[in-house]
Amino acid sequence: MPTLTRRALAAGTALLLLSGAALAQAPIVIKFSHVVAPDTPKGRGADKFKELAEKYTGGKVKVEVYPNSQLFKDKEEVEALQLGAVQMLAPSLAKFGPLGAKEFEVFDLPYILPDKAALRRVTDGALGKRLFDKLQSKGITGLAYWDNGFKVMSANKPLRMPADFRGLKMRIQSSKVLEAQFRALGALPQVMAFSEVYQGMQTGVVDGSENTPSNMFTQKHHEVQKFITLSDHGYIGYAVITNKKFWDGLPAEIRTGLDKAMTEATVYANQVADKDNADALEEMKKSGKTTFVTLTPDEKAAWKAALEPVTADMAKRVGKDVIDEFQKEAKGGTQ
Ligand code: LMR
Repeated sequence: MPTLTRRALAAGTALLLLSGAALAQAPIVIKFSHVVAPDTPKGRGADKFKELAEKYTGGKVKVEVYPNSQLFKDKEEVEALQLGAVQMLAPSLAKFGPLGAKEFEVFDLPYILPDKAALRRVTDGALGKRLFDKLQSKGITGLAYWDNGFKVMSANKPLRMPADFRGLKMRIQSSKVLEAQFRALGALPQVMAFSEVYQGMQTGVVDGSENTPSNMFTQKHHEVQKFITLSDHGYIGYAVITNKKFWDGLPAEIRTGLDKAMTEATVYANQVADKDNADALEEMKKSGKTTFVTLTPDEKAAWKAALEPVTADMAKRVGKDVIDEFQKEAKGGTQ
């Protein structure tokens, strides 16, 4: 063999050995994409998960968090997860319908959750597990439920009575239950990606929306909406999900570390959620840029009456059994 060829072969072998060693040490990268700001319950949860996952795997896993729809918007992020372009997401429970998991929309039913304790009974109970099982066939594994909070309603007019909604274009997440909710109020629901809402409000493409105070404040919705009604008419929370093939393919000891990190990050995210929303509300009040509307008991009763038919109307879509199980677990009973 000519010397040159021999040398080239030797160099090639050395290179191969080198890259093999480098590969053996290269961390497993988890891209965690989400659509909200870092200083929100979900943003903080994702950052906490990163910190703990890297710690508990001794640096064998590197978590890259991409907030604020930097990588993908609402709909695209789920497709990206299925394709393996990202490994982790935490979409709002109102965004699972287009994936064919419409049972998740049970969380969107108006006034279905009396409080956070009821919520925890559902997410930690049989239904929470059953909903995650639904995701397996879509190539997705559910890891945890994370909290945000109860919703308020914004517009450029005070929304006191159901009649105030008539003809308003209200932005919604991609949930048929939320669509039905706004139709019941006489409004015109419009699906829009979260990252587009501020501009939509500013340019009048939509007249208003519903969201949690932390989401409204961090996206500056209060700067382009004259009124916010403290309605607490519904709930926003998340399912932290991963690509099933990716997750199942991880070495067992890595998955153990990540499970521990997720358990602790979940406790943390759920702990900070209430405070984040209370603080956001305070900040928006302090800003003086929007006027807050508190409903009287009669006005509250009128909202409840107008929205009451939504649950029965949506039973066909969400599943009557799912709604019944939800209500039972929320009350503290088991199936
Ligand atoms: C939305 O309104 O789209 C929000 O639920 C976004 C989020 O992830 O909190």
